[in-house]
Amino acid sequence: MQRFEELLEGKIDLLPESRVREAMRYSLMAGGKRIRPALLYTALKGYGIEEEKGDSFASAIEMIHTYSLIHDDLPAMDNDDLRRGRPTCHRQFDEATAILAGDGLLTYAFETALKADADDAVRVSGARILAEMAGSGGMVLGQDLDMGEVSGVTGWEDLKKVHRYKTGCLLSAPLMIACWIAGHSEDEEKWHQVGEKLGLAFQIQDDIMDVRLTPEEFGKSTSDSNNDKVTSVTLLGIEEAEALMNRLYGECIRETETFSGFDSAAMKELITGIQNRTK
Ligand code: IPE
Ligand code: IPE
Ligand code: MG
Ligand code: MG
Ligand code: MG
Repeated sequence: MQRFEELLEGKIDLLPESRVREAMRYSLMAGGKRIRPALLYTALKGYGIEEEKGDSFASAIEMIHTYSLIHDDLPAMDNDDLRRGRPTCHRQFDEATAILAGDGLLTYAFETALKADADDAVRVSGARILAEMAGSGGMVLGQDLDMGEVSGVTGWEDLKKVHRYKTGCLLSAPLMIACWIAGHSEDEEKWHQVGEKLGLAFQIQDDIMDVRLTPEEFGKSTSDSNNDKVTSVTLLGIEEAEALMNRLYGECIRETETFSGFDSAAMKELITGIQNRTK
């Protein structure tokens, strides 16, 4: 994904020099796993579409994801010090700059998406999907529900909803956008469902890793227990959580085999790689 790293940094270089631009660059270029861009590119591959057609939207989704992490780490939210192997944005800069870096990335994501070299219908639908999946009916809703006092999450059904929104929505977006780019917009809702399930599995795995890994191994703070978070591990226990995670990944893989005009081989490999990740 070296090509993608250069593409992303090139987009930051286009912005006027400023403190907020350097904070955006600091968090964006810190070596995330780039799972959401990989989902978009891999879905395009399955439809037989060249990767470059997804560049603007892959960049946009990674910007939105990075903004969500910067704000998630703020003292008012998870209050974390380490992200992507580096001090969190508000630790490296300051809180005001971190808030603005998140705002800047979110806004620049939409500018980037709307400048995509694609038909109007694809650009508009892509931007609409980003807004729906990122906003207060998507990831932001999940983050709202995740904040303890507000959510009153007690049982597994409540937590599943939090996971689907806070994590699933941003995994659904690249899959939904890819089918529009590929001319298969009829598959949008089905990909939405696959992404939600993938998000549930991914967040269960994140909760497990928060318990099992050290911050150095994970590259980010492991603060769930300090924050008294209700997680998959606290509700299900680590073994049941792991069994459920594996079952969900298996279901996701099988569901990717059911799309017409779609070769699922590369997507299966990507999902298996995510399932076997070590951080
Ligand atoms: C972290 O996402 C936030 C969760 C949804 C658990 P990633 O694990 O994809 O983070 P990066 O992008 O690799 O840093
Ligand atoms: C947050 O979940 C997911 C986002 C929408 C940012 P977590 O709070 O568990 O993510 P990490 O563990 O800090 O990456
Ligand atoms: Mg959080
Ligand atoms: Mg967090
Ligand atoms: Mg976590």
